[in-house]
Amino acid sequence: MSYAAFRSIGAYIPSQTRTNEWFVQRMDTSDDWIIKRTGISERKIASDDENTSDLGAKAATVAIQRANILAQDIDLVVCATISPDFYCMPSTACLIAEKLGIKDVMALDISAACTGFVYALSVAKAFVESGMKKNVLIIGAEKLSNIVDWEDRTTCILFGDGAGAAVISATENKNEAILDVNCSSDGSYSDFLMTPGVSSGQSQCMQMKGNGTFKVAVKTLTSDVVKIMEKNGINNEDIDLFIPHQANYRIIKAVGDALGFKDEQKVLTVHKYGNTSSASIPMAINECFENGRLQPNMTMLLDAFGGGLTWGSAILKFSPN
Ligand code: ACO
Repeated sequence: MSYAAFRSIGAYIPSQTRTNEWFVQRMDTSDDWIIKRTGISERKIASDDENTSDLGAKAATVAIQRANILAQDIDLVVCATISPDFYCMPSTACLIAEKLGIKDVMALDISAACTGFVYALSVAKAFVESGMKKNVLIIGAEKLSNIVDWEDRTTCILFGDGAGAAVISATENKNEAILDVNCSSDGSYSDFLMTPGVSSGQSQCMQMKGNGTFKVAVKTLTSDVVKIMEKNGINNEDIDLFIPHQANYRIIKAVGDALGFKDEQKVLTVHKYGNTSSASIPMAINECFENGRLQPNMTMLLDAFGGGLTWGSAILKFSPN
């Protein structure tokens, strides 16, 4: 049997920064409110001529190069996004494959909001372990600025743009394997986070029941980690980096404290990128890789939550070639 190894990480961070001051000048809010309630100081915004597939392709280029393989070696492209270049079709994964010059490849999108990257990881693991694919490119890419209502102060301050990508490859070495990925959902909370416009002719923008989402997020993110750690006999000391979805500093703090992780284990990027949905976890992993915090053979714990509602967690080794 083949195992699935997390070989490499890459990201693309748009260059334009939108600080809290931008919102203060346009609506009834303050830097103090945004920082106290969310921990966010700034976020990145893609330029007009950059679309989600451009962000994803740039992140993927870095991940493929760091995996020491060629783009043509990729035999499955999975893109998690809720802000695709085109609604319905073509998929953003097809556009990314084309931009990377990968021909004749299976390519598909995943819609699981902020849990998208963990869902993509689960799909990659299953395809590799079944022997159907050898090198899977997974991407979380978002141009959320396209679906944010820039006049709604309760949501617009939260989100930013960006992309992250990883290569998951087959290995015979069990020590390199992704240990476990668990994904789930509960559609009875579907109205907590929505873009109602696409099906009903209303606004295309994101709408959120922030407070309700906050409470379910803390509960679910915590219980999900307890379950996956118990199932795999893993303790807090076995985790080098706890990388939760970056939605809100208060959520991360509440979950991290409830789970008893030390500050040196927790990864935080929400202050400078805001919530980038499916891109938030791979962007955070990439940051740890680039600043030397993530080293080969380290164990990461991923924990995500998002619209759907969806949630998921993963325990995996960083196993570069
Ligand atoms: N500036 C100033 N005041 C504001 C702002 C703002 N930007 N936004 C809201 N307020 C006001 C509200 O109107 C309200 O005023 P009122 O008391 O007079 O009615 C007050 O602040 C408190 O509002 P709450 O919504 O109760 O504030 P809360 O503490 O819940 O924080 C927040 C709001 C930051 C949105 C929080 O609820 C949150 O982070 N929720 C979770 C988001 C999340 O995790 N989403 C999941 C992933 S996203 C995805 O999947 C795409």
